[in-house]
Order: sequence, then C-alpha cells, then structure tokens
Amino acid sequence: MSEIIEVTPKKRVLSCIQPTGIPTLGNYLGALKNWKNMQDEFECIYAVADLHAITVRQEPAALRKNIYSMFALLLALGIDPEKSIMFIQSHVPEHAQLSWLLSCYTQFGELSRMTQFKDKSAKHADNVNAGLFTYPVLMAADILLYKPDFVPVGADQKQHLEIARDIACRFNGIYGDVFTVPEAYIPKIGARVMSLQDPTKKMSKSDENLNSFVGMLDSRDDIIRKFKRAVTDSEACVRLSEDKPGVSNLIGIYSAVTGKTAEEVEREFDGKGYGEFKLAVGEAVADALNPIKEKYDSVISDKAYLEQLYKTGAENAERIARKTYFKAMKKVGYVL
Ligand code: TYM
Repeated sequence: MSEIIEVTPKKRVLSCIQPTGIPTLGNYLGALKNWKNMQDEFECIYAVADLHAITVRQEPAALRKNIYSMFALLLALGIDPEKSIMFIQSHVPEHAQLSWLLSCYTQFGELSRMTQFKDKSAKHADNVNAGLFTYPVLMAADILLYKPDFVPVGADQKQHLEIARDIACRFNGIYGDVFTVPEAYIPKIGARVMSLQDPTKKMSKSDENLNSFVGMLDSRDDIIRKFKRAVTDSEACVRLSEDKPGVSNLIGIYSAVTGKTAEEVEREFDGKGYGEFKLAVGEAVADALNPIKEKYDSVISDKAYLEQLYKTGAENAERIARKTYFKAMKKVGYVL
C-alpha cells in the first residue's frame, strides 16, 4: 500500500540591501546572517537594491563597483544561487513600474511620517529629492512583487515594512486578493547594532568616524583595533543595562556572533576588565567575518561567473515579478 505524503510548499522570504559601500557588522547581524540561515527552511529571494541608492548622490564609477561587490558579497555570505534567487533590482523593471502604481495608493501624509526620510533629509539638506520621499513605495514594490511571507530586516526597517503592509492591505481592500501581506522577521539579538563610538546611534557605513563601524571586509587587525577603542563606561563591569549602552552593545554583538546568551556573557567576564572583554569581542567578530572575506576575495575577480549569476537571477526573479505586476495592472483597469 502506498503512503500519502503531504508536501507543504515552503514559505517565501524576500529581502534587499543597498549597494552603498561595504556593509557593516550591523547589516550582517541585523539581516545578512539570517539571509543565509533561512535558505534551508524557506524559498528565498535576495536583491541588491541599486535603484534605492541614488536617493543620495552617487559617483557613477563608485556605484558600479559597489553594486558589483555587493552581489559578490552575497555569494561570499553563503547565499546559494542553486537554492535561492539572487539578482540586481534595476535588472527587473517591474520594481520601478509597480512603484509608480503603488505611489497612487500611498498618501503624502504617511510618507511624511517616515523617520528615515526625516533623518536623511536633515543629513542631505541640499538634496531632498522626490525619490528620497517616495523611497518606501519602491521598497513596498520590491516586497509585494514577490508575495513573500517574511522579510528579514534589522529594526530600522520596521516602519518601512509597516507601510508596505498598509499599502498591500489598501490595494487588496479595493481590488481583492492581489498581494500577500508580509511579516517582518527581525532577529532577537543583533536587530540594532550601535556605533562603537556613540552607542546611542545606529552603526552605519556612512558615519564619518571610521572607528564607529566595522566593515564586513575589514582586516582582523582593524576589527580588533576598533573594538579596543569602543566607548564603554567607568563602571568596569560587563553587565547588560539600559544605562550602559556601550557595554550592552558589545554584549549584544558578542552574543550574536558566539550564540551565547547575555547571561552567559556576563558570567564569562565576571570580575574581568573591559580590556579583556573588548579583545574577546573583537576576536570573535574577526573569526566570524574571516571566512566571508576569504570567499569574497576568491569570487570578486571572476566577472564572467558573477555576470552569468546575476543574469540568471534576474530572469528567475522577473518570471515571478511579471505575474504579480500584470495582475495588479489588470485589476486597476489597464488594457494588457
Ligand atoms: P540597508 O541597505 O540600509 O541595510 C540592509 C539591512 O541591514 C539592516 N541594518 C542593520 N541591522 C542592525 N543594526 C544596524 N546598525 C543596521 N544597519 C542596517 C537593515 O535593517 C537592513 O535589513 N531600505 C532597505 C533596503 C531595501 C529592502 C527592500 C529591504 C530595499 N528594498 C525590500 C527589505 C525589503 C535599506 O536601506 O537597508
């Protein structure tokens, strides 16, 4: 007698990263590390969000290089092109096309409330362009085209994910079931890695103080040196506490890379000084990033291989994106 095996389809995951320089330890712990780990359980789609990058002025040669190296870095991270779809956003025109459609279902008021828009327009006051304002709509299009169940991101993207959900619900409310309303997938540890020099600020690759962030391709010596200089406090006690933002950030980073809980970290460094603790964090981070750096160095020069991967990736992505885009267009009343 044959046994009936029920096959449940895998849930789908989608996420993107901007190619605006070498990603930081924050990008890694908040998002990229999960991208790799989710590949076995989920059907994963990952993109280099290059259209988003020009909301801030980019030097053309640098942008080209950054798109290329971000794609190579995804491979180095362990994203497997046989298992997951990986592509470059601008290669799939439906992202920009759906973005226009969705912008007509997004209110000016809700975009005005986005904290990232407020922060970035303050930082780039000479270039508060319309793209910076409508950025969350393009991000909603990136997501909704692929009908993902989960979107793995760091805590700073939560508000953007909420607006994507709101737009999806609004559109579905008018036209029926077109988009899947996705859930944010935010890690418990590492969702908000803070600056090593000012732990009240998010770690960011655009920070002018180069000691404030660790780049994913930094050398071992640089990583250890940056952690040695990390700002702590005068209590000399490794303890997680809201009034100890520097030490708490380091505990979070150490937990995220070693898999130890915060209590285990506190116990490990009980009675030990900050010097020893900071060195241990630096070494653990360098150990975690080293295999990625080695793999990156081995793939970055193989242009033909990368080109073949991003072309195939875009074809596979577009097959999914086109269906959703045409369904949305048809519902709105366009002649197809
Ligand atoms: P981006 O390129 O700024 O960052 C990529 C991912 O890294 C996370 N992240 C952090 N996590 C923890 N601590 C930090 N200090 C830290 N800094 C960054 C971000 O939350 C993000 O998950 N708008 C997005 C890119 C994007 C996107 C999308 C994401 C475009 N379309 C569709 C998801 C789905 C962004 O600028 O991320």
